[in-house]
Amino acid sequence: MSTQAEVKRLTASDIRARKGGTPIVALTSYHAHTAGIVDRHCDVILVGDSLGMVMHGLETTVPVTLEMMILQGLAVMRGSRRALVVVDMPFGSYESSREQAFASCARVMKETGCGAIKLEGGRHMAETIRFLVERGVPVMGHVGLTPQSINTIGSFRAQGRDEKDWPPIEADARAVADAGAFAVVVEAVAEPLGARISAALAIPTIGIGASAACDGQILVLEDMLGLSPRVPKFVKRYGELGPSIEAAVAGYAADVRARSFPGPDNVYPMRVKPSKG
Ligand code: KIV
Repeated sequence: MSTQAEVKRLTASDIRARKGGTPIVALTSYHAHTAGIVDRHCDVILVGDSLGMVMHGLETTVPVTLEMMILQGLAVMRGSRRALVVVDMPFGSYESSREQAFASCARVMKETGCGAIKLEGGRHMAETIRFLVERGVPVMGHVGLTPQSINTIGSFRAQGRDEKDWPPIEADARAVADAGAFAVVVEAVAEPLGARISAALAIPTIGIGASAACDGQILVLEDMLGLSPRVPKFVKRYGELGPSIEAAVAGYAADVRARSFPGPDNVYPMRVKPSKG
């Protein structure tokens, strides 16, 4: 018999049912240990393709591969017990056809055990989202600023700051919801547009640089912990881990150079042999 209390993981349906209720708390994680911490406080853990920039120092998320997502998705599943784990589909793994998307998503779900996937795009991805959902893949959408399109949009600028630009963004959000997504990330849009999309959709909106009126919020963990050197305006820093890590590493380096580490508590003494007679 298991000695640990059985913990039931949240599902995409549980998150879908939270529309208009208590705000959904989401953060990214790419590692087992941070996933364990995030899991105790969040409803959703996103294994975001931002891992390409955060873990690997890439300039954009475009070079991220399916293998990178699967490896970190597995780590996060091992480290968490309760939150819904959503794995991001990387650029190039789902856009060319519905069949390509299903094959990639099925691989991610089988190999990581995650409960849902996320993909970027609005109206042009709606048919694919419907195809996936009808075949058992819970999909979280992502509209507004879609970082995988950086090479066509040209910059990571906020979207919809002029009212004339709202209709296509609203149409994207509606298309994703109508296609059967259980929730949608709305990234870097003007605040009134974020609130308006949230009010219009029947599924939860998860805001990042959008609006407090969204049904939930998400941030990149390393950004809010103060570990990322540059962060967008919408990030609030809840910690300053960069300076603490720097101080710890400097302390270690000084101790090693002074031969004061390892100290007596950090080495193994010989076993004391019982004396004869
Ligand atoms: O990749 C990511 O971390 C994301 C979030 C910023 C929503 O897509």
